[in-house]
Amino acid sequence: MRTQVVIIGGGPAGLLLGQLLQRQGIDTVLLERHSREYVLARIRAGVLEAGLVDLLHQAGVGERMQRNGLRHEEIYLAHSNRGFRIDFRQLCDSAVMVYGQTELTLDLYQARDAMNATMLHQVDQVEIHGADTDKPRVSFIHDGREQNFECDFIAGCDGFHGVSRNSVPADQRTLFERVYPLGWLGVLSRTPPVSDELIYASHARGFALCSMRSPGLSRYYIQVALEDSVQQWPDEAFWRELKRRIPHDAAESIVSGDSIEKSIAPLRSFVAEPMRWGRLFLCGDAAHIVPPTGAKGLNLAASDVYYLWRALSQYYEDGDEQDIDNYSAMALSRVWKAERFSWSMTNLLHRFPEQSQFDLRMQQAQLDYLESSRAAQTALAENYLGLPY
Ligand code: APR
Ligand code: PHB
Repeated sequence: MRTQVVIIGGGPAGLLLGQLLQRQGIDTVLLERHSREYVLARIRAGVLEAGLVDLLHQAGVGERMQRNGLRHEEIYLAHSNRGFRIDFRQLCDSAVMVYGQTELTLDLYQARDAMNATMLHQVDQVEIHGADTDKPRVSFIHDGREQNFECDFIAGCDGFHGVSRNSVPADQRTLFERVYPLGWLGVLSRTPPVSDELIYASHARGFALCSMRSPGLSRYYIQVALEDSVQQWPDEAFWRELKRRIPHDAAESIVSGDSIEKSIAPLRSFVAEPMRWGRLFLCGDAAHIVPPTGAKGLNLAASDVYYLWRALSQYYEDGDEQDIDNYSAMALSRVWKAERFSWSMTNLLHRFPEQSQFDLRMQQAQLDYLESSRAAQTALAENYLGLPY
């Protein structure tokens, strides 16, 4: 079978790329290892940069986000139970959109269905062949039968644990990694959010984050030891610890409840270079991971997709390969800036096992500087809002 672009991975990167290319009249086939229900059941973050909001509108999937999403013009940075606001409107005249990645993925699935574009779930043994030739091919097992798609290009949107990145010969790629000695214990609860804005809290007992999905659905995180298990954190222990780390007034007014989802995510910074090998292009978590402290994971996947969509559209329009040749450099330039921002937010707001008194003073001085300097707040705001594509 033949198509123009085979997309491996039905997460937000693969679905958004498929949507943009199909609308351009470029034929795509999307291969996903799990079932649709499994993909949609994954709880992920939900802070969208203005650039992603625009891209979703360009892709024709922005309507429900615009209706149900929450526009946020500030975040609250707390330390030692007090804090200050980073006012995006005042500093950068912009805002982010709080809209769950699960909702976004659902919108993209429905849009792909509406276009009747090919999407195969529960595919197995996906293998990439001839990515370094002008006749690439992807083989896989579906419904118990071996199948193959010949294509012009392959988009590896299969996440950190996918096959695409590992299809690039080891001597052709360089991996960069920082693993943090801590995790985030996240809880989703059918309770009203404790505040209208996200609260990022630094505390001697560790980091905490108050976020939300909707006026009736809240998402909270606390920093825990990497080796901790969810069993060690019954709901009441979670709420008790969260209240200790957030500002007093928030702790007094927070509404606790049963967790409807609870999981621990490790914190890692990871980049694979290059993001292109022959006719194979890596997008999203397949090429890079950021710690969630900067809310950049989904947004970086989107900017990769934006660059690849533009490059492939140019190629199919007039055969021009310039953007295709520049894809990796363009995507990596934005990736490394977001990696730096996420790494700096992680170092600023968490407590580390080996931290010295001097390190603690550095964190404190950075927070004091941030609180007192408009320039420092503007730098944080423009990175949080998203650097231009
Ligand atoms: N074959 C087919 N599909 C695969 C394979 C494979 N061998 N391996 C993985 N996949 C699928 C996964 O099941 C998943 O649905 O690829 C998809 C990758 O999706 P994500 O992991 O969500 O990655 P991405 O689309 O790049 O989105 C990045 O997701 O994890 C968050 O924080 C991250 O917000 C960021 C966003
Ligand atoms: C979330 O809502 O899950 C969330 C928000 C901001 C972050 C990370 C996660 O930085």
